[in-house]
Amino acid sequence: MSILETKNLFFTYPDGDSRKVILNEVNVSFEKGKFYTILGESGSGKTTFLSLISALDKPEKGDILYNGESIKKIGYEKFRRNHIGIVFQSYNLIPYMNGVENVMVAMSITENEMTKDIKRQALTILESVGIDGSKATRRINRLSGGEQQRVAIARAISTNVDVIIADEPTGNLDGKTSDTIIELFKELAHERNKCVIMVTHAQKVADQSDIILKLNTDTQNFEVINNEVV
Ligand SMILES: Nc1ncnc2c1ncn2[C@@H]1O[C@H](COP(=O)(O)OP(=O)(O)OP(=O)(O)O)[C@@H](O)[C@H]1O
Ligand SMILES: [Mg+2]
Repeated sequence: MSILETKNLFFTYPDGDSRKVILNEVNVSFEKGKFYTILGESGSGKTTFLSLISALDKPEKGDILYNGESIKKIGYEKFRRNHIGIVFQSYNLIPYMNGVENVMVAMSITENEMTKDIKRQALTILESVGIDGSKATRRINRLSGGEQQRVAIARAISTNVDVIIADEPTGNLDGKTSDTIIELFKELAHERNKCVIMVTHAQKVADQSDIILKLNTDTQNFEVINNEVV
């Protein structure tokens, strides 16, 4: 069963006197344990789509279902707080705090059940994404870009969510660092049973995912390419 699903998702932006259709009756579904990438030319609507499935924007028509239930019914804020983790291109961490503190902020906001000792748990999660104790307690602005993105990923998974949504998370990183982050996303999907949905510009990155969703500007809809070996 799908964890996240869109039903006739429709969205436009004002464009002069008329409106520009970005998503035209989009029906796609996402499962746990799979790594999805979203491709499409600049301006096709990739970020718009992510902001809708992250409940940062509201659909004009149609719906988004989490575990079969409308996120409108769940409540957009509650859905964001408890069911998804978001990773941004520019990390969006709190710069004057260290890694552990950044992760602990997310853990203290969620209503999902957390262990009593969230500091120890934050350290464990950071360690699992390659941030050891000495880096975890260092101020964010003293970490490299790749390390900051690892902290952002730790924060996204720290609240025990099933769905990780990322908008060009490797856009600011060099090729080698980017590869290690992609490996981490694959591991989250395949070893930790998360549903990972990531926007990328790079076909070579998309080729490493299980399923590619290609946003077509002519149809304002996705072409779905399954890369899974069956
Ligand atoms: N608030 C807005 N008002 C009007 N038009 C907007 C608004 N936000 C985005 N758009 C337009 O909607 C289209 C889709 O934007 P979006 O940011 O989703 O594209 P994208 O695929 O993420 O592009 P990129 O690869 O450059 O990040 C673009 O033409 C953009 O100019
Ligand atoms: Mg974008």
